[in-house]
Amino acid sequence: MSVLPIRKFGDEELRRRTEPVTSFDASLQKLIDDMVDTMHAAPGIGLAANQIGVSKRVAVIDLSVGKRPGELHVLVNPQIDAVEGKMTEDEGCLSVPDFTETLVRPERVHVRFLDRNGEPREMWGEGLMARAMSHEIDHLDGQLFVDRLRGFKRDRIVRKIQKLAKAGMW
Ligand code: NI
Repeated sequence: MSVLPIRKFGDEELRRRTEPVTSFDASLQKLIDDMVDTMHAAPGIGLAANQIGVSKRVAVIDLSVGKRPGELHVLVNPQIDAVEGKMTEDEGCLSVPDFTETLVRPERVHVRFLDRNGEPREMWGEGLMARAMSHEIDHLDGQLFVDRLRGFKRDRIVRKIQKLAKAGMW
């Protein structure tokens, strides 16, 4: 198990739609373990495979950041099939470090997915879990939270990142 570097805004891999998983082999198990280690080390509450440069439809979420093993969720080939309500909260991303912005997301999200052994699962997420599920599934589709911001909020973040990149600090 390894802690891997996290790709940042501007990296092409974050913009590519990930490929569905078809084989639940040892390389998938290693990928999942590396993702969990990388997420916990960051520290963060969610990570998508393309954030560590692997174009596979896999996300991990742990709102307890490693404190409670029962709260680790491994989502393989997740799909949102129902949403309810709306909520506005601050949101950030390990690929856009040090930036947060308020963003509207569904309050409840229902997801169908496979677990790390390929068994079908489903779950409702509410509040922060719903936000994390939406955020990570966006990643798997090549989308970042900044894309969902209104123009002026998005432009402000992008401008600051461009400035940092120019100074070699991104
Ligand atoms: Ni993110």
